[in-house]
Amino acid sequence: MTTPDFDTIIERRGTHSAKWDKMEAFCGVSPEDGIPMWVADMDFRPPQSVINAVRDYTNHGVFGYFGDDDAYLNAITWWMKNRHGWEVDPGHIFSTHGLVNGTGLCVDAFTNPGDGVVMFTPIYHAFFRVIRSAGRQVVECPMALNDGRYTLDFDRYDGMMTGNEKMLVFCSPHNPGGRVWTQAELEGVLDFAKRHDLIIVSDEIHHDLVLPGQKHIPMANIPGAADRLVMMSAATKTFNLAGMHTGNVIISDPDLRRTFDAKMGALGISPNAFGKHMVAAAYTPEGADWVDALMAYVDGNRKVFDDGIRAIPGVKSMPLEGTYLAWVDFADTGMDATEVQRRILKDARIAVNHGDSFGAGGASFQRFNLATPRARVVEAVERMQQAFSDLQ
Ligand SMILES: Cc1ncc(COP(=O)(O)O)c(C=O)c1O
Repeated sequence: MTTPDFDTIIERRGTHSAKWDKMEAFCGVSPEDGIPMWVADMDFRPPQSVINAVRDYTNHGVFGYFGDDDAYLNAITWWMKNRHGWEVDPGHIFSTHGLVNGTGLCVDAFTNPGDGVVMFTPIYHAFFRVIRSAGRQVVECPMALNDGRYTLDFDRYDGMMTGNEKMLVFCSPHNPGGRVWTQAELEGVLDFAKRHDLIIVSDEIHHDLVLPGQKHIPMANIPGAADRLVMMSAATKTFNLAGMHTGNVIISDPDLRRTFDAKMGALGISPNAFGKHMVAAAYTPEGADWVDALMAYVDGNRKVFDDGIRAIPGVKSMPLEGTYLAWVDFADTGMDATEVQRRILKDARIAVNHGDSFGAGGASFQRFNLATPRARVVEAVERMQQAFSDLQ
């Protein structure tokens, strides 16, 4: 494999990119000189194998119904076994229109209107929208902050359960904050789910994006989890293919699988051929080398960002174990969130995600996407130091 180039700036403006072409409308930051660090996609091209697969398909030029899933399913099982030590039966894989769609389908299939859906907050904002739009209750269990990193406080959560809760939407690795959960923590999550009879929907979309020295453990490998577990993963986050909207929902329990299958059938969900071609080309040895290079590069960006942010008094970047999403706490600046946001958006001209959209515990934080060429991270840090220079 040729060494991937993550340094070259690729022009994304004017390409219908949500992150670039919607930043003015959503964040009030002009794409002319603004830096988009909000939407969780990357400013990088995927491995050449993926581009070639799409090129071959478009060169052929006939886009009829797709009818042979073998290469696609084999690629998924190969990847899960080789990268994550997880044996997947191809007959257990469903393809959804991404994992927000997968979450919505699980909520619809396994809970009823009015039921409670538990989440450890702060957590990925789209889950709130999906759960509430379906008429279910979000039950927010705030994570604890211990030595500046998130941990789970099951004693507290036990006391919050009412018996109305039916499902836990779990994020592993966790977005935001980037925790890569340990075996003991995952066992704790399973015990908690058993105590309250919750189905676990484990969204592991960030599973490949772990920083050097970290190891992701799939919830499916925790003994005793299978009969209450729905696994969700996707090549989209790993390889920057989010526009293809293809996700995997993997269910080994026959009863849960039957229920989910009926929901897929009722709604006529069938994914697109582009997604299947891209997944088959991404989950390969070439793709594996590319991810290793990517995470080494992201780690370099993280160091540049954290060092620069640490120099601003009162501002702390949480030590990331996974994801490319820095999670920065402004609580000790003494400023309210409105002033922090004004300085980031207007003075630094950086589009970020505001912490309050991630639920309880997020209000003093801002999320910065580091999956961009290093020069842009350096520029962002300089702008941040300038915007908060009165604190120096
Ligand atoms: C935890 C988590 N789940 C799901 C998604 C999005 O999934 P999809 O694009 O497949 O709908 C994201 C995107 O950032 C995410 O962080």
